[in-house]
Amino acid sequence: MSAALKAEQPALALRITALHPVFAARCEGLDLRRPLTPAQATAVEAAMDRYAVMVFPNQPIDDDLQLAFGRNFGEVEAEPSLVDKARRRLPDNQVNDISNLGADGQLLAADDRRRMYNLGNALWHSDSSFKPTPAKYSMLHARVIPPSGGETEFADMRAAWDSLDEERQAELLPLVADHSLMFSRAQLGFDDFTPEEQAKCVPVPQRLVRRHMGSGRRSLYLSAHIGGIHGMPRPEALMLIRELTEQATKPQFVYSHTWSVGDLVVWDNRCTMHRGRPYADKRYPRDMRRVTLADVAPTLEQPQ
Ligand code: OGA
Ligand code: MN
Repeated sequence: MSAALKAEQPALALRITALHPVFAARCEGLDLRRPLTPAQATAVEAAMDRYAVMVFPNQPIDDDLQLAFGRNFGEVEAEPSLVDKARRRLPDNQVNDISNLGADGQLLAADDRRRMYNLGNALWHSDSSFKPTPAKYSMLHARVIPPSGGETEFADMRAAWDSLDEERQAELLPLVADHSLMFSRAQLGFDDFTPEEQAKCVPVPQRLVRRHMGSGRRSLYLSAHIGGIHGMPRPEALMLIRELTEQATKPQFVYSHTWSVGDLVVWDNRCTMHRGRPYADKRYPRDMRRVTLADVAPTLEQPQ
């Protein structure tokens, strides 16, 4: 796989341009078909700590090159299919198929279970927050895009935390939430999970407030996968999550990315949420591939 990598790239300075007043930046000056130097990888990670979302435009990479870029920054998560594994388009390895296509390359039918499951990406979430050790970065690459719609929106949960008053922050600080894929899907009425699927979706506890290691800033840790808060009646917990999600996704905290083919967008799931916006998925293909990196430990084991 690294045989596909071209010779190391010249030590070009990264050109980083802010895309939003509080976070998100575009990064030019790198050719992701070539290995990064250690200095370049360090510079990208430092920029990620500052901006949390970075757009690398015009990168003609394939799955293996996308994986190779990801490995500069951590361990790649396996991407096991939850629903209809046998009908998966990509081999069940480390690249997540974020598309509306079946194994035959055709659009998924309106009532296809995989399509309904995929619609959960339209809810504000943080990737893999339902895994004991959740995700660090996600890296999404656009291969085919629809003529309109299908933007991806990002929200900065550090800025949202900073916007809360001290009393509120003190109440939230000790809280622990339960996350499961079943909770996010149930919000859209997708709840016909098989017993095997349910067994894979046991809720995992995560801090509601965490410290983002690279920047030292505190962050809310919200996700559509949350289904309860320890020690709180469920309706009260879900109302609190809904209210915090509204706060965290106010326009001043949101960057909306309009895709071009070849864009690689990297986001830090430890301190941002994202959601996919609608498009005419019964008419046009949208083929995106995601490589996801695991964080170092469950949030409860990380210093707050
Ligand atoms: C993802 C995701 C949204 C989109 O890839 O994790 O949520 O716009 N994608 O495809
Ligand atoms: Mn996602």
